Amino acid sequence: MKVTSKLDFDEDFSSICESTAALTEGCRLPVRMHKTDDWPLAEIVSIKDSEGKRQFYVHYVDFNKRLDEWVEEEDLDTRKVQFPRRDGTTTGASTGVTTPKKHHSLAGTGSVSRPASPVPLNNEIVNGNAVLAAALQKKINRKRKAVPVVEIPEENSQDGLTPRQSGSMVIHQDDVVTRMKNVEMIELGRNRIKPWYFSPYPQELCQTPCIYICEFCLKYRKSRKCLERHLIKCNLRHPPGNEIYRKHTISFFEIDGRKNKVYAQNLCLLAKLFLDHKTLYYDTDPFLFYVMTEFDSRGFHIVGYFSKEKESTEDYNVACILTMPPYQRKGYGKLLIEFSYELSKFEGKTGSPEKPLSDLGLLSYRSYWAQTILEIFIAQKPSGESEKPHITINDICEGTSIKKEDVISTLQNLNLINYYKGQYIVCISREIIDQHKKAMDNRKIRIDSKCLHWTPKDWSKRSKWYK
Ligand code: ACO
Ligand code: ZN
Repeated sequence: MKVTSKLDFDEDFSSICESTAALTEGCRLPVRMHKTDDWPLAEIVSIKDSEGKRQFYVHYVDFNKRLDEWVEEEDLDTRKVQFPRRDGTTTGASTGVTTPKKHHSLAGTGSVSRPASPVPLNNEIVNGNAVLAAALQKKINRKRKAVPVVEIPEENSQDGLTPRQSGSMVIHQDDVVTRMKNVEMIELGRNRIKPWYFSPYPQELCQTPCIYICEFCLKYRKSRKCLERHLIKCNLRHPPGNEIYRKHTISFFEIDGRKNKVYAQNLCLLAKLFLDHKTLYYDTDPFLFYVMTEFDSRGFHIVGYFSKEKESTEDYNVACILTMPPYQRKGYGKLLIEFSYELSKFEGKTGSPEKPLSDLGLLSYRSYWAQTILEIFIAQKPSGESEKPHITINDICEGTSIKKEDVISTLQNLNLINYYKGQYIVCISREIIDQHKKAMDNRKIRIDSKCLHWTPKDWSKRSKWYK
């Protein structure tokens, strides 16, 4: 997936840097990717001094942000540096290269640099960093107008740890702070997990090497000791809400974002560590959360979840979906997706995931749609002797609850549709059938609709106050 750049660059203006001292935030250059010998083009997002050594937070331009990382000077190839293009009207500067001194004063010592204050138009000290900061600030100011300030309910203050920005929270999707991972590690049950993206956990917690999270109520603590104290008091051994599905060790719990606000907010905070493209809302009232768990003698452990608007004007049946990283690539993502369509079947509707999809989201959905639709084709029987089986797109939508657009895009992606003698025909080769059968053999766990005990609610009929 191509990541669009945040700033314009003089593509032809790349220069050889004698040392890394001239590098500023916003520069692009080849960087050695962690644990590889690859040197993809990366953009410097932030620079810090750590024990006398400069470290660079980089984003690999053509890769997902979860691969962003801190690198050292020796990982930078300074032979081909692109400097960010300067905004002529603001600065009139002739070079984007800063002196090391100015650079250090902006980067600060030993701490991650934050977006600088807006630079006055008549600022006499002109350097690339200030220009970049100004450009960023302009962008942030524009965003700020668009994002509502949401009050954090007091009950979500945990052990005196209030989430960011003293009572109110605004997530600026484009600012330097939220572009960088801020949590080093989390411990959730028996797993230690390295986060992928920014999530607005309280600042005090982000400075610790690990955030300890109760795997049942999802409350967060700054040390294992604090968590142990919490566990003595916390008697939850499963998510709150109703268990609406159970087969073997897999269960689903339905949680109302209004009734279990603190849990829902903590789930969103946790999920944001692995979801990049979604805005975090503290208003969880309009959502239901479906948490999938795996049961053992210690309790019901969270494997993944998806959220769903109580009422969606766009027919979305999933807002956000996540498999916790230790459980990923084992088929649980497709199980969550299958469950979301099972709910839509019970509602008698078609549904679709909220856009945009992440790279992994798109992969998983495409694979689910393809398998589900192929399954229907393969099960088709001819209606009579020498007759070919006949099926409409609407039949497929009805049978699967997959929205029409997604059915059509899947058929196109699979390249199955041909136009022949005035008719659309679907040709499935023996090879595709064999591949499909093999893939289905690997999907060991499936949703069994007989194990779903659930009646859909008509949220539009409920009073506004009870949504
Ligand atoms: N690299 C390549 N392929 C992958 C990867 C990966 N890292 N992860 C999953 N896939 C493929 C699998 O191979 C599989 O396809 P196949 O069966 O055709 O081979 C398909 O994706 C689904 O695999 P599952 O094991 O069923 O899915 P998983 O449990 O890994 O969950 C999910 C998928 C939920 C997208 C997970 O990757 C995740 O939580 N990602 C982070 C959050 C995210 O991006 N969520 C989706 C956002 S979009 C939205 O919210 C509407
Ligand atoms: Zn707890």
